[in-house]
Amino acid sequence: MNVSIFLTSKIEGRKLSLVTCYDYTFARLLSKSSVDAILVGDSAAMVMHGHPSTLQATLEIMRLHTEAVVRGAGKKCVIADMPFLTFRKGVPAALEVAQALMSAGAAAVKLEGVRGHEDVVQRLVESGIPVMGHLGLEPQSMRRYGGYHVQGRDEDQARKILDHARVLEELGAFAVVLECIPSSLAAKISVALKIPTIGIGAGVACDGQILVLQDLLGLNTDFHPRFARTFADIGQCVLAAIESYDRAVKTEQFPAREESFT
Ligand code: KIV
Repeated sequence: MNVSIFLTSKIEGRKLSLVTCYDYTFARLLSKSSVDAILVGDSAAMVMHGHPSTLQATLEIMRLHTEAVVRGAGKKCVIADMPFLTFRKGVPAALEVAQALMSAGAAAVKLEGVRGHEDVVQRLVESGIPVMGHLGLEPQSMRRYGGYHVQGRDEDQARKILDHARVLEELGAFAVVLECIPSSLAAKISVALKIPTIGIGAGVACDGQILVLQDLLGLNTDFHPRFARTFADIGQCVLAAIESYDRAVKTEQFPAREESFT
């Protein structure tokens, strides 16, 4: 599926729901859901590989997860994150990375920020590669912030984020993720842009929302950001099932006769 749903949804005032996904099994489930699109986020480095940040996501990691998700996603639009620094090394290097992700089956790529790589965004768009922007808290810049903090609280920062959103739109991005910014700023950006804003920790006025799948399913027991609502406690279900299996094995209740061969 392509990214046309993003523009039509904004025009028709329909909210977009996106989730991250990194593997085939969840992609199969998502393919049967009503979510509008799937992001193979570089958060894969943290969620799937246990790294401390997204800086450790490599092209190889992103390519493999993208391929797995695309195999399961059916008709869903799959967007893949361009890893840390891969869009900061000039246009040819960025094109190689985007080519690898698109060859893996992605319908679009996402990259953080815009200042200093306007040429990359422009060339990707001109080359037929749909680009999603990502502003506000840019996790790949967490070393600069010294952690994960809400961005755009002061006037100067807020103006910059709005300006950057406008630049992304002018360069041809089809949507922009707004992460951890005040709701009032996200609302202002959402009104100012023709392309949809996809919020995460950016309030209800955004044109759509995105959450990390493991957060919304209660599978991330170590860390709970304020903006991530747990829609089901699947983590507890998984633990209960595993405990039940363990008991059944140790009491010789499993496997039963009908689960065995003569
Ligand atoms: O990598 C990711 O999971 C993301 C979302 C938080 C938007 O970029």
